[in-house]
Amino acid sequence: MGQEIKIFNNSQDIAQYLSFTLEEDIFMSYEENRCFCIALSGGNTPKIIFQHLADSYLKKEIIWDIVHFFWSDERCVPPYDPDSNYGMAYSTLLEKLRVSKNNIHRIKGENAPQKEVIRYSEEIRKKVLTLENNIPCFDYILLGLGNDGHTASLFPGTDKILDSESLCEVSQHPSSGQNRITFTPKLINNAKKVVFIVTGKDKAEIVSTIINSAKRNQYPASLINPGKGQLLWLLDTESFSK
Ligand code: 6PG
Repeated sequence: MGQEIKIFNNSQDIAQYLSFTLEEDIFMSYEENRCFCIALSGGNTPKIIFQHLADSYLKKEIIWDIVHFFWSDERCVPPYDPDSNYGMAYSTLLEKLRVSKNNIHRIKGENAPQKEVIRYSEEIRKKVLTLENNIPCFDYILLGLGNDGHTASLFPGTDKILDSESLCEVSQHPSSGQNRITFTPKLINNAKKVVFIVTGKDKAEIVSTIINSAKRNQYPASLINPGKGQLLWLLDTESFSK
């Protein structure tokens, strides 16, 4: 469907836009009598976005019963660990919205990675009922972008993972060695809508490279190109340089 770039003054405006478009698409799923499956991203950028989303949604009637939350990647740590992407999303968003535990499908970072990657892939197959190309089709997948061009926990130089035919893989952070569970490009590119949320001037160079440059191909984020789906960049003015 193509790529769209939207520039905002700050994270709050990004969150306001995301809150509106998400609400619209959740309502469309409700009208079509089907679940809405979203995978949340991790790291620091989404934290402020989730806080603003919670503030916005607390004033609205959203049909959370049909919304199922997943993660596009997770650090292999327990849920109460400050590094946990689930822990951050739960405390900033899901707990405030009183989302049912039945609708929260966290990656169990406390489990052995090689077992958890299988368990989580099976949970995705069981819960994400919409299929495209006979693989689970998420309604939304949120992603961040690292300065080295990684996204989710898809890091440069890990071609076996980047080319994987699986839904999820075990990866390692290149400097800390921390084990991660990550969606693969195959699963991400099968989504209806993939949303990169990137802010801050320290990301301007990598954003410009991924969006505009011929050198983009050396970075994992350049592999994100949902076939029939939409690729949306939500950037602030600092992270977008013409
Ligand atoms: C993670 C994320 C990762 C993150 C980028 C950007 O688990 O860390 O999935 O891909 O989105 O590293 O992180 P910041 O938002 O902290 O810059």
